[in-house]
Amino acid sequence: MCNKGETVKLYVVGVGPGDPELITLKGRKVLEEAPVVFCPSTKGHSRALEIIRGFLKGQKVVLLEFPMKAQNPKVHLTKASEVILKELERFKTGTYVTLGDPSLYCTFFWIYDHLREKVSVEIIPGVSSFTAAACAIPLPLVLGEEKLALIPVLYCENLSTYINDFDTLVFLKVKGKIKDLKEFIDVDRYRVFYIKRATLPEQKIWEGLEALEDNDEDYLSLVVVKKCRS
Ligand SMILES: C[S@@+](CC[C@H](N)C(=O)[O-])C[C@H]1O[C@@H](n2cnc3c(N)ncnc32)[C@H](O)[C@@H]1O
Repeated sequence: MCNKGETVKLYVVGVGPGDPELITLKGRKVLEEAPVVFCPSTKGHSRALEIIRGFLKGQKVVLLEFPMKAQNPKVHLTKASEVILKELERFKTGTYVTLGDPSLYCTFFWIYDHLREKVSVEIIPGVSSFTAAACAIPLPLVLGEEKLALIPVLYCENLSTYINDFDTLVFLKVKGKIKDLKEFIDVDRYRVFYIKRATLPEQKIWEGLEALEDNDEDYLSLVVVKKCRS
């Protein structure tokens, strides 16, 4: 079992939304120096690993399987923590990579409590998908007195309840939920942007409600809704 006293260290690196050049210098440095890299995955596929693959120089890569759920079942969290601790016992340091910025909907925080008592953890920020998307449009998400809301559509009911309190709303996890969004957006009062695969070569940006595809199954898509300035 790892003992925090013997300076066992885990870095958590936000690898950004897709373009590998958007990873920070610090993130890239710890990644390149890590003897072992932990990648969250679903059904054996890791989007974070795809982004960083070009930076790897023969390090051990460990896929940690997490199902797509708001709260991952305890069994997966316990297993992932145990795997990380076992590898750190051997290598003394390692890096966990995560999409975008680690502070936003990142699976790592479900296991943080299991690890923090046993190893030292340093978290390195990354470029978030929604700020990257806003820059790509380009659109200031908020200016002056404006307020911003970040909403994971997949887990929210009654989306219309948020609309009056904010000037800009960013909807993440929109896969399978586009129809719900369309129902409450008043196109006379709001500009609507639909961004798929921000910063990747296949990035696409549409403006207008009609662009939203009811059956969008792309996990890497988001919607920005911004009140028209009068
Ligand atoms: C679990 S959240 C992770 C958010 C991430 N930590 C961040 O800072 O962007 C996953 C959601 O982020 C959004 N997302 C992540 N990368 C994206 C990209 N390249 N383009 C558009 N949306 C993206 C999608 O809405 C996706 O369903």
